[in-house]
Amino acid sequence: MRQGDSIIPSLTSKSGLTLPGVGFGTYQLNGAGGVVAIAEALGHGYRLLDSAFRYENEGAVGRAVRDSPVDRAEVIVTSKLPGSRHRFEQALDTVTESLYRTGLEYLDLYLIHWPNPREGLFVEAWRALIEARDRGIVRAVGVCNFLPEHLTLLEEETGELPAVNQIEMHPYFPQAQALAFHREKGMLTEAWSPLGRGTDLLDNPVIAEIARVHGVSPAKVVLGWHVARGSIPLPKSSTPVRQRENVEIFGVGLTNAEVDRITALGRPDGRVAGQDPAVYEEF
Ligand code: A2P
Repeated sequence: MRQGDSIIPSLTSKSGLTLPGVGFGTYQLNGAGGVVAIAEALGHGYRLLDSAFRYENEGAVGRAVRDSPVDRAEVIVTSKLPGSRHRFEQALDTVTESLYRTGLEYLDLYLIHWPNPREGLFVEAWRALIEARDRGIVRAVGVCNFLPEHLTLLEEETGELPAVNQIEMHPYFPQAQALAFHREKGMLTEAWSPLGRGTDLLDNPVIAEIARVHGVSPAKVVLGWHVARGSIPLPKSSTPVRQRENVEIFGVGLTNAEVDRITALGRPDGRVAGQDPAVYEEF
């Protein structure tokens, strides 16, 4: 994938799902303004778009993709199943509704948004997503915010692991164990809030120092850290200059020592909003 000088390498799961090494987060990009921002992102070379039923912008994503000069086959359109629709038939209807909202012929990737373990329905939801894939509504399926114990249960109950798990990940919450678990299982890791939205991460002195050494912005250092660790960051930006900055991250060239220094900024309570999937529930 090439746009101007930026080449986006791809990563492939054991199950054969290939994703670009960076994606575009669309949370809060809604309506006509959202369509413009998403169209700009496609123009800057993004080929992985991350939406969700709950973001209420599947229509904007679909519109941007339909109107884009970029070939539909080059774009990975992602959406997610809300926690209120984990029952099998509801889940299948919701995937179909997501598809209708985009106005596209198919979705590329559909994820369970949260496991909601106290509800205890995520295995049923997973069976429904597998069925949606087998019916051709969506090409590939995965999850978000699943802990290793949830993934293990999916594998035990259905014999199939998700191709991808999208989790909160940034230097204040580096998720080394989850990343290692996914790698061992051949799963891809996508990172939400990759820039640590709402924290002081981009003003952190360690990040600033490394940015000075490489002559790049703090955001590029953080995204370069994701790339170096093999996760797929999904930065969101409504600003064209930042969108471009956030996609040109494959030549940052951090040393192993720099990666480790950034990872060491992590702390147990480093989540941006305290959403621990073991107890947090979202519907
Ligand atoms: P904006 O949309 O105004 O560009 P995250 O991806 O971690 O959720 O963070 C998204 C937030 O970070 C948004 O508020 C976005 O603001 C801001 N942001 C995105 N890219 C950059 C960048 N390259 N430099 C500084 N801030 C950025």
